[in-house]
Amino acid sequence: MRRAVCPGSYDPPTNGHLDILERAADVFDEVVVAVLINKNKRGLFTVDERMEMLAEAAAHLPNVRIDSWHGLLVEYCRQHDIKAIVKGLRAISDFDYELQMAQMNQQLTGVETLFMPTKPLNSFLSSSLVKEVATYGGDVAHLLPETVHRRLLTRIADDPS
Ligand code: PNS
Repeated sequence: MRRAVCPGSYDPPTNGHLDILERAADVFDEVVVAVLINKNKRGLFTVDERMEMLAEAAAHLPNVRIDSWHGLLVEYCRQHDIKAIVKGLRAISDFDYELQMAQMNQQLTGVETLFMPTKPLNSFLSSSLVKEVATYGGDVAHLLPETVHRRLLTRIADDPS
């Protein structure tokens, strides 16, 4: 079975993430979306909330499953027999760091990283920008899965800081 992982913070998942998941699900037999836990970053959403949002947004993709992981991505891949990491690339500004991580991961265990160009429509899209715009009252409905948009507005209303 050809299995790939799409790792990320997903705080929160955007239409850009979903586009990459849908296209990866078309190429691989199984795609695991791994929410990576970064203990140095306090997210707007808990890891469980991110996983729920991803499960809801990707419910139409039968070969996609959601998981979380605390530690090295290559170790997750080793434990789950995953040979490919799929990453969306938005712009050349993403490339330097992504290349560095891809080469490090390849060198650590041989796991390969495949870069998938985002659709031009999503090339400006990031979770942090969406959060910032939404916090100041900007309309981000068209940038997020419906379930994520609803939760984001609720979270901002509950905790406007
Ligand atoms: O959505 P993000 O924050 O851009 O995702 C970055 C992420 C989580 C994929 C990356 O930081 C990662 O792979 N972290 C797991 C820890 C790890 O393996 N670090 C070494 C990378 S070479």
